[in-house]
Amino acid sequence: MIYIHSAAQIATLAGASTKPKTGKEMEELDLIEDGGIVIEEGVFTFVGSSEEACRYVAEHSGDREVTVLSAEGKTITPGLIDPHTHVVFAGSREFELNMRLQGAKYMDILNAGGGILYSTERTREATEEQLMAETVKRLDRFLEYGVTTIEAKSGYGLRLEEEMKQLRVAQRLNASHPIDLVSTFMGAHAVPVEYKGDADAFVRTIIGEMIPAVARQGLAEFCDVFCEEGVFTVEQSRDILLAGQKWGLKSKIHADELVSYGGAELAAELGAVSADHLLHASEAGIQQMAEAGVIAVLLPGTAFFLMAQPANARAMIAAGVPVALSTDRNPGSSPTESLPFIMNLACLTMKMTPAEVLAACTINAAHAIGRAGTIGSIEVGKQADLVMFDAPNYLYLQYHYAVNLVDTVLKKGEAVIQGGRRVQG
Ligand code: NIG
Ligand code: FE
Repeated sequence: MIYIHSAAQIATLAGASTKPKTGKEMEELDLIEDGGIVIEEGVFTFVGSSEEACRYVAEHSGDREVTVLSAEGKTITPGLIDPHTHVVFAGSREFELNMRLQGAKYMDILNAGGGILYSTERTREATEEQLMAETVKRLDRFLEYGVTTIEAKSGYGLRLEEEMKQLRVAQRLNASHPIDLVSTFMGAHAVPVEYKGDADAFVRTIIGEMIPAVARQGLAEFCDVFCEEGVFTVEQSRDILLAGQKWGLKSKIHADELVSYGGAELAAELGAVSADHLLHASEAGIQQMAEAGVIAVLLPGTAFFLMAQPANARAMIAAGVPVALSTDRNPGSSPTESLPFIMNLACLTMKMTPAEVLAACTINAAHAIGRAGTIGSIEVGKQADLVMFDAPNYLYLQYHYAVNLVDTVLKKGEAVIQGGRRVQG
């Protein structure tokens, strides 16, 4: 039994496990001052004031050992959740930054065989063990920043064998690393060199071979497409996502990232779980997403790193679209594991309030990966994933920006970060 007491503040985010928070609900964090938490067998069994928690322990501990943790001066939140990453890849692309500073566009680099295609070459060459080793380093870093669950996409194989290699790495890391990974098949991330000039043929391969194989082996829960001018058209994206649905893969979509292209509308039409990026989503698209209950996964770090205007979060929240946030961790457009810095950017560049930002990285992010029944809030019965920040209240997280305020991380009730450092289990 673990007894945590004296938290300056606990943001529980309770009460939104069946439906993501929208509009004003995103401001409701269900705060507890001088809070206490009890964890038994990896699950929250009591959440309330320190005093009530103390009483609970006295009545329920029996002859069991009780680990006591003081959270004095600290703010506790649910473990942060990152619902959109491309974390399994080999190599890096730091040289593209100079190209972009000299005026090259992200798409120019891709069209010249760089970008995603460069990372695809590196990832194809890498053995499964090399990919494991590179990815573990990124997961360790995520953990240091308070992230306890992530979504992980394939999409740097672009060939069945290597797409499966990436997905197997995610599956193995889900079993061996403290971070939980939820897998997404994204064979439609770019058109590989073998299919250059014949995207339709590649789409047929994705639909006819890749999706059935990935689904049969249970290697993914979601299917995603880079629906963008010059990559996959709305029609091709629809065909791919519908094929995924036929095989039981729920839909996600990279939508309206670089130009307004109808991705938000397509997400609504298909009942996608989320539409991501949305920098150029149309007003109609936003409205349709609200009506269909599609979650907007916003990636302000990608806008920042590509030196672009971020998505219009305020319009989406006003329209009633549930908003989640993510790093988009990938080697090209967002090479960071710092979800807390993304939260700072969401606040300072998209004018989301500190409360909305926290809802977006916890319970709404859990909904975006289909896990709101077990994580995303500090509630009795949920998996005991939490972060203790060196902060007197949740507002402080967006104020003392761009530094790592994470002190302690518990994953399923186990301390995996203590004093800001990784504890090897
Ligand atoms: O979400 N836009 C497409 N995919 C990634 C970038 C991948 C890369 O550049 O390697 C994204 O931004
Ligand atoms: Fe992405």
